[in-house]
Amino acid sequence: KVIVLDFGGQYNQLITRRIRELNVYSELLPPTITADQIKKMHVKGIVFSGGPNSVYGEGAPKVDPAIFDLGIPILGICYGMQLMAYHFAAKVERAAVREYGKAMIDVRSDAVLYKNQPKQQQVWMSHSDLVTAPPVGFQIDAATDHAPVAAMSDPDRKLYAVQFHPEVNHSVHGQEMIRQFLFEVCGCEGSWTMGSYINQSVAEIRAAVGDKKVLCALSGGVDSSVAAVLVHRAIGDNLTCMFVDHGLLRKNEADLVMQTFTQEFKMNVVKIDASKRFLDRLTDVSDPERKRKIIGEEFIRVFEEESKKLGHFDFLAQGTLYTDIIESGTATAATIKSHHNVGGLPEDMEFQLIEPLKSLFKDEVRELGTQLGISDDIVWRQPFPGPGLAIRIIGAVTGDKLALLKEADFVVRDEIKRSGLDREIWQYFAVLPDIRSVGVMGDERTYAYTIGIRAVTSKDGMTADWARIPYDVLERLSTRLVNEVPNVNRVVYDITSKPPATIEWE
Ligand code: XMP
Repeated sequence: KVIVLDFGGQYNQLITRRIRELNVYSELLPPTITADQIKKMHVKGIVFSGGPNSVYGEGAPKVDPAIFDLGIPILGICYGMQLMAYHFAAKVERAAVREYGKAMIDVRSDAVLYKNQPKQQQVWMSHSDLVTAPPVGFQIDAATDHAPVAAMSDPDRKLYAVQFHPEVNHSVHGQEMIRQFLFEVCGCEGSWTMGSYINQSVAEIRAAVGDKKVLCALSGGVDSSVAAVLVHRAIGDNLTCMFVDHGLLRKNEADLVMQTFTQEFKMNVVKIDASKRFLDRLTDVSDPERKRKIIGEEFIRVFEEESKKLGHFDFLAQGTLYTDIIESGTATAATIKSHHNVGGLPEDMEFQLIEPLKSLFKDEVRELGTQLGISDDIVWRQPFPGPGLAIRIIGAVTGDKLALLKEADFVVRDEIKRSGLDREIWQYFAVLPDIRSVGVMGDERTYAYTIGIRAVTSKDGMTADWARIPYDVLERLSTRLVNEVPNVNRVVYDITSKPPATIEWE
């Protein structure tokens, strides 16, 4: 494998990602790792990532200097290049002009990273420090108008460094450079696939668990489902899943989950029907953040109470993804919504964690799920918030409103699926705003609820665009919602993107 040392840059997870796209297994690790630790890991290459610091700055992350003596090829990117230059006592200076955005480099060497590539090529720059003269023994590989050493290398010692970001798509030949580094410099084989991931992780889980018992909180979402099936494949009936139905799930969802895991996969799943408890605690609560908090707390309470009844477990399996770890690591990001995930478990529980997906990205998890034989209904499920329909009912949640929204949401999902739009739209659902309005049906005046349709396209949920659903589909949605859902007489379509709106209404 190839490891990426994380100096805190915004594209770091993308580097790991690009490496895996080339079928080489890669992981992001903290820069505090020592040369001795690396020695034990069968590492074929090391990448130093970018980062916001200046190498001279206070608290700037450094590496164990012995890493440079391991003889393992190193590729330094941006801050990683400056760090390499600093280590070898070259000049790193504050740039006169901060370079940000597209830039043209002049490739000046026939170094292996740039083999068969144009001598002039576009790259993505984002830095304020730069290396002004390469260290002794290094050659200059590329330059720009502003950066005399945009790339450098010492092929004898297998040290390569670039000031730009080859992992970003705007670096037109970036992926080729990464490929060259992996295959020509590090000697990687490129044989890593999801199938090998399954075998490797089944073996690891077995080794870790032995014949002890594992508990898993199954939510029916993609991540916990895939994690549960993978752990089940490793240890069979020593896994018990607990599925807490908080009553805020979509129509038929609880049945689908039970059916899939108990019948198709023959797993032990204990379903806890806690809908009444949740609904009681949500009475008269209309503040979105309070709803989230209550649901999160109640979930933990139910989980604790019920898991005790199931006996003793040494391990807890969770579907934590790579992005979950990375996102929760940004201590400085402002809290827009608390995003409490019902899956967030008490910290003081005495379990050892098993997180078999923690090095995977969402689409990799989907592929893994498919390879494990999980149906598209679950693997391609749209993201669904932990607090469920509670945050799609504006104002206080009541049993009646919940029932109404479940029906409306079912119609939206059904119609979008029938129209074949379900894979291209990231999330599509119904919202129940806290308003009623006047309408006329037959010869009667009605005073009934409005349903909001929300549908967005997105790559990761961080930003989103409202989906351009064709008018005829919208028309069918409108007709069906009014006809099939009692007490609805008006349908509106939300045409705000994120930002400025968020995907959910609460
Ligand atoms: P927003 O509404 O912030 O949503 O644009 C971005 C993504 O996060 C989901 N979401 C949540 N997920 N607990 C969750 O597990 C929450 O409290 C929560 N709030 C929003 C939302 O569905 C979208 O995919």
